[in-house]
Amino acid sequence: MTGDGERAFTQTLERDQRVEPRDWMPDGYRRTMIRQIAQHAHSEIIGMQPEGEWITRAPTLRRKAILLAKVQDEAGHGLYLYSAAETLGADRGDLTRRLIEGRQKYSSIFNYPTLTFADVGVIGWLVDGAAICNQVPLCRSSFGPYARAMIRICKEESFHQRQGYELLMTMMTGTPAQRETVQDAVNRWWWPSLMMFGPPDADSPNTAQSMAWKIKRHTNDELRQRFVDMTVPQAQALGVTLPDGELAWNAERGHYDFGAPDWAEFKRVLAGDGPMNARRIAHRRRADADGAWVREAAAAHAAKQSRAAGQARAAEGSVPA
Ligand SMILES: [Fe+2]
Ligand SMILES: [Fe+2]
Repeated sequence: MTGDGERAFTQTLERDQRVEPRDWMPDGYRRTMIRQIAQHAHSEIIGMQPEGEWITRAPTLRRKAILLAKVQDEAGHGLYLYSAAETLGADRGDLTRRLIEGRQKYSSIFNYPTLTFADVGVIGWLVDGAAICNQVPLCRSSFGPYARAMIRICKEESFHQRQGYELLMTMMTGTPAQRETVQDAVNRWWWPSLMMFGPPDADSPNTAQSMAWKIKRHTNDELRQRFVDMTVPQAQALGVTLPDGELAWNAERGHYDFGAPDWAEFKRVLAGDGPMNARRIAHRRRADADGAWVREAAAAHAAKQSRAAGQARAAEGSVPA
């Protein structure tokens, strides 16, 4: 059985087709896929917090409506992704427990504080921009439900990136104080954004296996380079400076050279010691506890419905009472 399954799995990858939930797959593939999708889902849900803090303080009704829609999109992305993880046999409640008990990670970027409204714009521009670089290739990821979820999610992420850029453009054509606020936010978010692509390839032991399984299509360093090349001209158009003295066009390579992020900081934040880790998890834990009664009510209702359906079938005589 396994022999046939394994052959079919290998063939699916070779033909660049999608692995579906009912197909045989190696345990390692299933585990890797559940972990990656769960971490992605957690990132979407935790990612609602930094910007969500600004919904009540948005400067205009228009900005409030846009931000509200954006944060709601992120909730939708999280729910999509938890559903994709469920197709692999994962349990949503269990994944949430892993998150709030610190046993499963989410993107390090959301452990930084949002100090001004310009941070909303910079998150849209840089953080959603980096997410797009990461996620567009995932639309061709080998696991079907994940790849299909990514197509929808990427469409919304491009809206997020545009809204961020438009907000920053507006602020940059405002007062000198507004321009300074934007530059300050760019200074704080630039390096954490580069860290979103993960450790350097030499320090990323799982990349080779994920590429062989066609879960991942490009290495961390390739995607980071793509992001830098895409972002530098946007920074120039905006009139902000990216805080990297080593940033320079390299005509020979046809790419921008750039400095290395502080990888010690990356490891610290990922290990739970970033500026906002404790707050983010405490907030998520509170939300989970607050929602317990809704989940219990839904489960009780579902049980009642299925009991009623069972009784109706029994009354019709289609099943023995
Ligand atoms: Fe998202
Ligand atoms: Fe987004």
